[in-house]
Amino acid sequence: MAATPHQPDVTRLDALFAGEPDRLSRLSFAVAGLYFDWSKTHLDQALIDRSIARAEESGFAAARDALFSGGIVNASEGRAATHVAERGSGAPDDVDLATARRQRMRALVDAIEAGAFGDVTGILHIGIGGSLLGPALLVDALGRRRSKLDVRFLSNIDGAAFDAAVEPLDPATTLVVVVSKTFTTAETLANLGAALAWMRQSGVADPEGRVIAVTAAPQAALDAGIDETRILVFGEGVGGRYSLWSPVAISAAIALGWDAFEELLEGAAEMDRHFRFTAPATNVPMIAAFADRLYVEQLGCQTRAVFAYDQRLQLLPSYLQQLEMESNGKSVRADGSAVDGPTAPVTWGGTGTDAQHAVFQLLHQGTIPVPVEFVAVREADDAQDPEHHRQLLLNAFAQGAALMQGRASDDPQRSYAGNRASATILLDRLDARTLGALLAFYEHRTFANAMLMGINPFDQFGVELGKQIARLLSDGADEDGLDPSTRALIERAGL
Ligand code: F6P
Repeated sequence: MAATPHQPDVTRLDALFAGEPDRLSRLSFAVAGLYFDWSKTHLDQALIDRSIARAEESGFAAARDALFSGGIVNASEGRAATHVAERGSGAPDDVDLATARRQRMRALVDAIEAGAFGDVTGILHIGIGGSLLGPALLVDALGRRRSKLDVRFLSNIDGAAFDAAVEPLDPATTLVVVVSKTFTTAETLANLGAALAWMRQSGVADPEGRVIAVTAAPQAALDAGIDETRILVFGEGVGGRYSLWSPVAISAAIALGWDAFEELLEGAAEMDRHFRFTAPATNVPMIAAFADRLYVEQLGCQTRAVFAYDQRLQLLPSYLQQLEMESNGKSVRADGSAVDGPTAPVTWGGTGTDAQHAVFQLLHQGTIPVPVEFVAVREADDAQDPEHHRQLLLNAFAQGAALMQGRASDDPQRSYAGNRASATILLDRLDARTLGALLAFYEHRTFANAMLMGINPFDQFGVELGKQIARLLSDGADEDGLDPSTRALIERAGL
């Protein structure tokens, strides 16, 4: 079918369904308690075949083997990416080291439960980016009705964020968990200092004694006055945005209980096995990456939207923003050559049904094509009439149907072109195991995209320049080298 304005130049979705009687069964997959439906994307068999050939040409299988066997997949930093070892899926030595470190983490969790820190009613988790987004998602998704503790997350340097985070906490019974891979991150160190002052001012005798540090740079934590018995180490090969499987998630393990943390790792390991051993045509992270490449590279989609049709997953879009944009928002390949097409789209999203009443207008009738992803959970976990959850799920499915079907009208204002892509992930239930599998799926999809493009998803040099300029300015560097606009802003703000 010919392209119409704002319509992709590919076979329409309804024609794909009409022409491929087995389309749904070929493009829907049940893995680890999750159902993935990619049938409402524009992938057809020829595209999948071409994508599989591209994966073969790009050395995909060897790269995936390297990921799981501790090979150097992060070439610019000369190291492996060992997050899979945190859940038992990596090289034996990496798995052993991760296991030993997890045992120390468990001992600390047990000690807290046994009262080694006295009465603990709250946790202030300080960190930023990958040192916070994962644990915050875990606690929000799984702990709202179960956590015995009040866990607050603090990332921003903005003092207002500090005020809000500590407001419900009692300084005498709060544990501070400070997470920083490098232990140099300005926001995190400033917030740690403020937290210690907050406790000291409230009469806590030994504030440092109530701090647990999680880092890949233990000497820096020691230098900050934290006792070695309360420093948990994770490996350099565990990137921040891939780190929620490691001691980085101790706040979540304390709040949710150790068994839940283990189940999270088991769910992720199940997805690891699927990604590692399943043929491309039924390998869900690969199929999702094939669709991602189609929308970004061939159909000009500059964004992709993820809507969690479950309040418990409200933090998923911001978690995915870091995972996908920090991993694949690059302009050069791993070998340093410039890429010749677009790489990562902008990931954005929200929760359903809220988003339907705010941004879905553009998704249904706007001129910018946006592939949409719905994430929903079959079983509810709320105290309300089941009708709420029924309506929630039906709304998610209705949006996908409406985007695809469209509706013709003589009135152009009321006409829906349809043929708009969506994918749906339906979890049987939301628990630690299925959440682990879901997040591992997103990691592997991100990796699969990177391998198809030839880029390194495990470094993030793009974040450095702004940090350096901020540090120079904060240290009182001469502003003369700055552009007039920035100089004027600094002066106008009275800095
Ligand atoms: O600035 C980006 C970043 O380095 C992320 O990659 C990382 O997750 C975050 O900052 C926090 O870094 P750290 O854990 O070293 O404090």
